[in-house]
This record gives sequence, structure tokens and C-alpha cells, in this order.
Amino acid sequence: SASKEAKGGGSTVARNLLYLPAEVKPTALSITAAPITVNLGGGNNAQVWAYNQSFPGPTIRANRGDNATITFQNQLPEHSIIHWHGLVVSTENDGQPQQAIQTGETYDYNFSINQRAAFNWYHPHPHMMTGEQVYNGLAGGFIVNDSEESAKNLPSGKYEVPLVIRDATFSKSGDMLYKPTSGGFFGQIALVNGTKDPYLDVDRAVYRFRILNGANSRVFGLALSNGASMHLIGNDGGLLPLSSDQARIDMGNGERTDVLIDFRNYPAGSKIMLRDLRAGWDILEFRVGNTEQKPFYATLPLTSAVEPLPAAVKTRTFSFDGMTKINGNLYDVNRIDWTVKKGDTELWVFKTNGNAPHPVHIHGASFQVVSRSGGRGKLFAWEAGWKDTVLLEDRETVTVRIRFDSFTGRYVMHCHKLEHEDMGMMANFEVVQ
Ligand code: C2O
Ligand code: CU
Repeated sequence: SASKEAKGGGSTVARNLLYLPAEVKPTALSITAAPITVNLGGGNNAQVWAYNQSFPGPTIRANRGDNATITFQNQLPEHSIIHWHGLVVSTENDGQPQQAIQTGETYDYNFSINQRAAFNWYHPHPHMMTGEQVYNGLAGGFIVNDSEESAKNLPSGKYEVPLVIRDATFSKSGDMLYKPTSGGFFGQIALVNGTKDPYLDVDRAVYRFRILNGANSRVFGLALSNGASMHLIGNDGGLLPLSSDQARIDMGNGERTDVLIDFRNYPAGSKIMLRDLRAGWDILEFRVGNTEQKPFYATLPLTSAVEPLPAAVKTRTFSFDGMTKINGNLYDVNRIDWTVKKGDTELWVFKTNGNAPHPVHIHGASFQVVSRSGGRGKLFAWEAGWKDTVLLEDRETVTVRIRFDSFTGRYVMHCHKLEHEDMGMMANFEVVQ
């Protein structure tokens, strides 16, 4: 692991080569969760929990129409289950808390991937233990490709890089410490793809970064250190109706953004930082090399048709109360809190009386964000199109339009600040015929 000296934020930091998890297909895939020791960079060996010995787990790459056949093997010292965040699958394939399996057991998933191209992800979802398990290292990207997206000639191969960003706190001996409070967990440094103080060598070319906020509680405000814009093309639900330049992109836990960064006009030797403006952190250093520009064939801005959902037939209001409850209720694995008719379009209104941010995530369908009032008081470019997670900050009311048109069965809605989720800010609902 070659680490070189580089200037970052005024101080000199030894930087480590960004780890890139291997890609795997979703067919006949076996995923084992187990403890391992891994070098996080610069010889910092740490005990983590990993999928298939990789931290983060391998990036699953699927095509729309693929049939996923995945066996999960639990070799952790406690029960677990995998949820495919952003994939719309039947209840048995959704990896919900009641489906967690014990140490030594396996769980077989079999589902068809019938949704538009997007950067999804997978992570554990056991009741009250999700925060600890994700923190320990269990998370991976799940890319879906389709023909509409491929026709756009976006950067691919080494020019398409998934970035799983999260935070962590380390002990003197270099192990990750998880000491959440009721307000959540806020680590002392960022890890990108499990790498401490990472750098990435880039050509003078346009890159596509698929970014996941994989942190337990921390919200990121991403920007480039030189003030240049990133070209935002997608979010949780795939390509946006219209791509645009953004100087800053805020991401709540579980949210994804898809951006193009153009390094063509920087001289070789330039160093540019991906920064988090909220914490004031340098997250990832891009080192521009000598390699000549790779031609960029996409036409910007990109457009992608997103049909608006029809008018809603029903409105429901959900209050995210304190740090543990939705509409006054703690999560109960066995209680179904409401039912929704399959095929109906509904408005779901999310409110909070404080203790936000609450990134609200819904299983079983994507939604369209309709409005935000209070707090930041507007919708952001990355909230257009389709979403599965939306950030609710203090004093905000956010309304989404949703339609469950794929499956009947049981799903969950919860706060994706994992400490809130684990303390009970989650609810079961059932989609009925
Ligand atoms: Cu990313 Cu219910 O989870
Ligand atoms: Cu919350």
C-alpha cells in the first residue's frame, strides 16, 4: 500500500490508495458476512465485519431483467439479514427485521430485477442491530444498468467509480469504535470505500462517481475544494429528468447521487479534494495524471423521461417524534401500522418536532418528492425524479407521492439515521390487493 505525502487542508496527511471493491453478478452469487482483519490504508489493520472478505462488500452489477439468485451466509456472531436498499422486491426477498437468520444459517434470495438503472446498495437490517452491523463494515453497492442509460454513453470501466462514504472513530490500536448516543453516531474521520485518507489517481477525463452516504448518522454536504461544479446526473432512483451543474450536494444517510466530474482541463499534477462542507473535512483527493483525455461522448445536459405519478387518492401524515417514534409509536416487529391499496397513488407527509435530520426511507416502492416547507424550504436538484430516501431536517415538512404497484405484502418505513431506526423509529405497513 503505497502512501505518499500530499497537502490537504493546510496539514500534511499521508494518503492511501482508494480501495475499489470487485464487481460481481447477481446470479448464483453467494454472500458471506464474517469478521475479518483488513488494512484500511497506511498499515492501519482493523477488525471489521465484511461481505465476502471485502470492506465495503463487492459491488453487485446487474442488468434490468436479470434474475438475482443470491445466498446469504451468516458467519457473524449474531443474527443478521441482507436488505437490498432501492430494489423493489417481494417481502420474502426484502430482508426485513423479522427475517434475520442466526449464526451459521443461510437465506436464499430469488428475485427479478425489473426497475430502471440506478445505484442501489445492500446492508443488514436486523431489528435493533442495524447500526452496529453497518458500522462494522457491512454495506455494498448494487448497480442496475439498463438500455436507456447505456445509450447515453456515460463514462464506464475505470472512469465509473462507486464511492461509499461513511465516518468512523478509531481506537489507539486502530480499531473502529462504535459508541452511539441517543443523538446518533458521529465519527471523527471519513472513510471512502473503507479507506482512510484516500486518494484516487485520475486521467484528464470525465469520470462518473456513484456516491452513497453510507454513514450511520452523518449528513454530508459534498463539494470540490476548488469551487468547481459537479455535474449531477442521478440520484437514488436513477437518472434525473434533467442533469445540472451543482457546487454542493447534500446527502442524508442512505441517499445516493450520481455525478460527472470533468478533469480534462486541469494540468497534470493538480490535486483536487472532494470535501464535506458540513464537517469541514477533506474526504477524497483526486490526483490528476498525465494521461491524455479520454473522449467523452455523452451530450449534456442529460435528460431522462420520468412520468409524474397521477393525483393522489389519499393523504397520510407521519410525524417523526423525538429520536425513537413515528406517530407516537415505537417499532414493533409484529404490528402492522397501516395498509395501502396496491396501485393507489398516495401523498405521504413527513413532519418532525425536532431531533432531525431524519432521512426517511420507504421499502417496496420509489416515490416522487412533491414539496418541502419550513427549514430549508425548497426542493433540491437531487430530489427530482425517483427517490427512496428523503432528508427531513428540523422544522421541515416534506411531502412525497408514492404508489406501490409491484407487490402486495409487508414493508417498512423508517428513519435511516441508523441509531434512530434501531431505537424504534420504524413502522410496518402492508400493501393489499
Ligand atoms: Cu437502507 Cu430499511 O434500509
Ligand atoms: Cu431520525
